[in-house]
Amino acid sequence: MVGLQSRWRYLLMFLGIQLVVMALLSREGYHKRVTYFIRIFRKPDLTSSEHHNRTAVTVAAGDVYANLFNLSKSHSHGDNMPYCPETSPLIGGPIHVSFPSGLTLAEVQRKNPLVIRGGRYRPPNCEARHKTAIIIPHRNREHHLKFLLYYLHPFLQRQQLSYGIYVIHQAGNYTFNRAKLMNVGFREAMREEDWDCLFFHDVDLIPEDDRNLYTCDANPKHAAIAMDKFGYKLPYKMYFGGVSALSPLHYLKMNGFPNNYWGWGGEDDDIGIRVSLAGMYITRPSLKTGRYKMIKHKLDKGNDENPKRFNMLAKTRQTWKQDGMNTLEYEVVSRDYLPLYANITVNIGTETGLHPLPQSPHAKDEQKPAANASARR
Ligand SMILES: *[C@@H]1O[C@H](CO)[C@@H](O)[C@H](O)[C@H]1NC(C)=O
Ligand SMILES: *[C@@H]1O[C@H](CO)[C@@H](O)[C@H](O)[C@H]1NC(C)=O
Ligand SMILES: *[C@@H]1O[C@H](CO)[C@@H](O)[C@H](O)[C@H]1NC(C)=O
Ligand SMILES: *[C@@H]1O[C@H](CO)[C@@H](O)[C@H](O)[C@H]1NC(C)=O
Ligand SMILES: *[C@@H]1O[C@H](CO)[C@@H](O)[C@H](O)[C@H]1NC(C)=O
Repeated sequence: MVGLQSRWRYLLMFLGIQLVVMALLSREGYHKRVTYFIRIFRKPDLTSSEHHNRTAVTVAAGDVYANLFNLSKSHSHGDNMPYCPETSPLIGGPIHVSFPSGLTLAEVQRKNPLVIRGGRYRPPNCEARHKTAIIIPHRNREHHLKFLLYYLHPFLQRQQLSYGIYVIHQAGNYTFNRAKLMNVGFREAMREEDWDCLFFHDVDLIPEDDRNLYTCDANPKHAAIAMDKFGYKLPYKMYFGGVSALSPLHYLKMNGFPNNYWGWGGEDDDIGIRVSLAGMYITRPSLKTGRYKMIKHKLDKGNDENPKRFNMLAKTRQTWKQDGMNTLEYEVVSRDYLPLYANITVNIGTETGLHPLPQSPHAKDEQKPAANASARR
């Protein structure tokens, strides 16, 4: 009888404690309280330092600059630096991407003290295993470029790459030609440096995971496989748009990209077809790491939908050897080596050539790009 009574008493005490715990949990917030109760059962010194570290990690999680604080302090380019490790210890996984309204290029510069003129960087305390050039076709997108630079510089530094960023700026107002600007970027970048990988990068796509390595594979790589715009899925199997990576060998093997896609659309599919026509495959990162956030924007002037693209795509098999790097023509207007990127401004001409002959008013009307379509890029 006595035993039963004391058992009841223990049960009641136990329930009472539980009630108190539950009340505290619901009042003070679950996390804080759980940590508090766990701490009671731990050695004080151990828990406090762990708690501290956990806080630091939580604050830093997803911040693309988080792992780079130390780099600026140990600046020591030597002749006999060891190679960087196969896997960079600075890689942190998912990156939180947002677009703060007050960001300036000066701020991006301040946060990237080791980037030198022309947007070049080398890891300060090891010899990079990879040399990657980033090629960004551009016109009228300074606002996007600023955000891309803010994220891309630390992203590449975390991967311990030796890199350079080339903005290929199309001069004039004629219809935009993304693929031809990439060809220009390839030639201009390779003139300057023996890059072993080139990333062809739309200005409005921000990578969201630094395990998406900006290095080249044995085959051309399509990196932007999971964009928020497409629900973080590949829109279709042959898709090769947004961000892709080719080694110089890959690039020349497929005669580069087409020069004759003026306006929005088609050129990325043409490039995908070229890859297979040249006997190569498309490789891809995993859906988990090949994630990108697209900066939203309004319609672009001078980048209307290309109405000829379906006809052109049907003929890629016949045209790829006659149109590409071997027929590339352009004029460099200026080369500016700015603190965060090289601005290569080029005249790439029009559909009728680099220096179109003066045309009759009638012909001019026909050549004029439609000023008014619903295309976006
Ligand atoms: C994290 O913990 C380590 C010891 O494990 C300590 O040396 C370091 O200072 C802590 N970091 C922070 C930010 O408190
Ligand atoms: C950062 O630098 C501090 C001292 O300056 C050093 O103790 C710490 O280990 C470094 N951290 C990393 C990740 O290199
Ligand atoms: C491009 O267009 C802008 C305004 O629409 C004009 O001011 C400028 O002169 C044009 N540039 C050329 C090279 O035609
Ligand atoms: C690149 O240089 C050209 C020519 O100076 C200039 O018009 C253009 O705004 C520059 N673009 C960028 C992104 O710096
Ligand atoms: C563009 O379209 C709008 C309405 O669709 C029209 O009012 C305008 O005149 C067009 N502009 C040109 C340059 O065609």
